[in-house]
Amino acid sequence: MSRLVVISNRVAVPKARGVAGAQGGLAGALNSALKRNGGIWFGWSGDEVAEFTGEISIQRAEGVTTATIDLAAQDVEEYYNGYANSTLWPLFHYRIDLTEYEREFGRGYERVNEHFAESVRPLIEPDDLVWVHDYHLLPLGERLRSRGVKNRIGFFLHIPWPPTRLFVSLPYHDRLVRTMLEYDLIGFQTREWLESFLHYCQKELGADVDEDTGRITLGGRTVHARAYPIGIDYDHVMDQAGTGDARQAAQRLLASTRHRTAMLGVDRLDYSKGLPERIDGISRFFDQHPQHVRDLVYIQIAPPSREDVESYQKIRTQLEQKTGQINGARSEVDLVPIRYVNKGHSLAELCGFYRAAKIALVTPLRDGMNLVAKEYIAAQDPEDPGVLILSRFAGAALQMPEAVLVNPHSPDELSHAIKQALDMPREERKERWDALIKTVRDDNIQRWTENFTGDLASLPISQQNSD
Ligand code: UDP
Ligand code: G6P
Repeated sequence: MSRLVVISNRVAVPKARGVAGAQGGLAGALNSALKRNGGIWFGWSGDEVAEFTGEISIQRAEGVTTATIDLAAQDVEEYYNGYANSTLWPLFHYRIDLTEYEREFGRGYERVNEHFAESVRPLIEPDDLVWVHDYHLLPLGERLRSRGVKNRIGFFLHIPWPPTRLFVSLPYHDRLVRTMLEYDLIGFQTREWLESFLHYCQKELGADVDEDTGRITLGGRTVHARAYPIGIDYDHVMDQAGTGDARQAAQRLLASTRHRTAMLGVDRLDYSKGLPERIDGISRFFDQHPQHVRDLVYIQIAPPSREDVESYQKIRTQLEQKTGQINGARSEVDLVPIRYVNKGHSLAELCGFYRAAKIALVTPLRDGMNLVAKEYIAAQDPEDPGVLILSRFAGAALQMPEAVLVNPHSPDELSHAIKQALDMPREERKERWDALIKTVRDDNIQRWTENFTGDLASLPISQQNSD
């Protein structure tokens, strides 16, 4: 089997961790994939230096070899805080109102993609499968091709691909997508995002698109685009759920909530996660069912994320204000309805919290997939499982229709779903969980890795690439 060279902005090396446990789904998933398959993981160290040197630091930790570069402060500002997280992230999450277009951001993005290509090029051997990840590195394949890389190169997008009429608001959108056609295989989390991408290629670029096979042909070059829904590392999550740390975390939570039902949310502090809307839904629930104010407690774990970006600073303030208002209005000397925890936790601790929580609220306004929903299901007691309330707008909803699906924009729907979850008989909870756990266990991270890399390896090397 070919060696795998995985390239992503975020790499799970201790140095790049920042706030403990707030790395998000990509780093955890790729860590698991690489532990099982071997290979190299290349990306940003998470460190800033005065000037870019291109020096590569190689580390081997927990069976994974990582190669990282430091970025210049200006690169971090323009590429990471700028184009990636102030332009592409909001636009791809349908938040055109938060999308900023600055020329410097675009230049920084191109510069850092050049740095990545230049630095990783010497590490690539002729038979390697190269696998690039996420919106930070959309043009990287083309940059590698221009440096003579003829290997098969795949790309996976962990976030949504927006509808064409939103995407065309991005200046130079066509140039960006044309660079993506230098990959051999492009993966999306769901069919919905895949269809948006195919629609764009057909309507805006005039490409020849076969919707059944996902084959896109333009200017004599062929690329394949398909959906590969990502899963969790089921075995690893189960291991973590069985640790002393998990048990202790569950006990801590249960002891502190005493006889009240614990309802849980675990999200990076990001506006795409629908946190203020969720608090509004909980508030509506308390208005409509005052008898439950004393027997339900909501715990929101929200580690800070991308703190140098203004929209993230704003969402933090907004959430603090909202939580403060509700707690101010509804607290008693012995009762605080919403607990807001602004720091990250280890997977083991999260598994303990998941197990202790009778209801999970996973209500993003838009999400490529959402792994918290899957981890929550994996960590439940099969004999007495909790209820997952899941946004229709998370990629995970397509695979998890047995969850209680909601429109996260509607406080009434959220309130109704909470009531439904509280009243749900054990038999129905078990029925729903039985169906959900099958998907979570079977469509796991190993399957995702095998499906993508298997398809990539079996594609013919196109004429252009082998020239
Ligand atoms: N996570 C964590 N500690 C925390 C909060 C989250 O380890 O305190 C992990 C969580 O277990 C999950 C990932 O972060 O694996 C979040 O992935 P998801 O797909 O839900 O959202 P993302 O953050 O990638 O947008
Ligand atoms: C999402 C993105 C990842 C990113 C993660 C955490 O999962 O798809 O690419 O790594 O969020 O965000 P951060 O900016 O801290 O890497």
